[in-house]
Amino acid sequence: MQIESLLSADARNLRPSAIRKFAAMMNDPAIISFAGGAPSPATFPAGRIAHFAEKVVRDTAATSLQYGPTRGLPALRDAVASICRERGFACDPATQLLMTTGSQQALYLVSATLLDPGDVVLVELPTYIGGAGAFYARRAELVGVAQDDDGIVPAALEETATRLRAEGRRIKFLYTIPNFQNPSGRVLAAERRRDVLELAKRFDFLVVEDDPYGELCFADDLDTTPIKTSDDEQRVIYLGSFSKVLSPGLRTGWIVGEPALVRQFELTKESADLCSGMLDEAIIAAFCAAGELPEQIKSVRAFYRDRRDALLGALDEHFTGRATWTRTEGGLFTFVTLNDERDTAELLPPAVERGVAFIPGGAFFVDGSGANTMRLTFAKETDDRMREGIRRVAELFFAA
Ligand SMILES: Cc1ncc(COP(=O)(O)O)c(C=O)c1O
Repeated sequence: MQIESLLSADARNLRPSAIRKFAAMMNDPAIISFAGGAPSPATFPAGRIAHFAEKVVRDTAATSLQYGPTRGLPALRDAVASICRERGFACDPATQLLMTTGSQQALYLVSATLLDPGDVVLVELPTYIGGAGAFYARRAELVGVAQDDDGIVPAALEETATRLRAEGRRIKFLYTIPNFQNPSGRVLAAERRRDVLELAKRFDFLVVEDDPYGELCFADDLDTTPIKTSDDEQRVIYLGSFSKVLSPGLRTGWIVGEPALVRQFELTKESADLCSGMLDEAIIAAFCAAGELPEQIKSVRAFYRDRRDALLGALDEHFTGRATWTRTEGGLFTFVTLNDERDTAELLPPAVERGVAFIPGGAFFVDGSGANTMRLTFAKETDDRMREGIRRVAELFFAA
């Protein structure tokens, strides 16, 4: 059957993730992989999750094995409201919060609820592929905004917004990942967070603040306070997730926003899946109620801090003078820019032949730039394997 003529215009516009094609090599044990984006299974508190799973199924089967509220399990919404309070902003769990099937669904709901074909979404250069994918799915036009080591460059944002306004284009929202960005590992500087919000007010667009890595901070003195904390006009739609601190298999994230907007997201979600997995939500609610989340986050941070040290140490040893990279203070990634203009996509096949993989960075740039960059995760491999992997990449890239 020819399905092309059956597809909707939106479906025809869906783009396969530019990095999914690397999935096989990410999982091949023979390959030292910096290519993944997933958390390390070593960080999953599997025993405790098994304990709470058994407990909630035994004690609360009537709710945890049943359909539930589209907005999410009330006990979990309360727990998430207190997580938000600790992150610095209040949120009413009854009206301003919607639990989602991972923050990827939150991106989809925001996109499906707010975007019409041709609407402009501003994204960082580079940006998260899953975010861009959700916006492309609505046939939005993605316009890149330059970053430097301190994240979005406010002057570039102002210039872009001014140009679009002069062209009569409406910017619906800016999509930003201010903390330990995927893919760059960068943090948006505190004063720039204020600038971004000021520009959002001046040019009248929303800010979608995606913060799955905010809690994954390795430094004690770094300011990762969400933009949402200064949001006096409810202009910021904040997305959170349990994926990176607990487990992505539990598929649980959330949206905080202005009540009327959240109500619209709820309607979109209702038509997508009625409600998220109540068993997942009940397990996480029990984990939070037992007070185990802070210790879990502490141990996940320590785990990745050590891994980060090993990867940056290997880059110092083999890449110094030939490339620059993010001295990332959290999250799962560092991002490398080669000093010369070679295309890392062309360097990947010979790297795989040498048993090592990375993600060529061009996939993360909506303007076609970034060919000489690559994303490296420190989540997947042991310290020794990372050192060996970086040695092999350097041998390939920089051998005279
Ligand atoms: C920036 C960003 N947003 C959202 C997600 C989606 O996460 P989840 O749906 O597991 O919450 C990811 C996953 O890697 C991510 O890096």
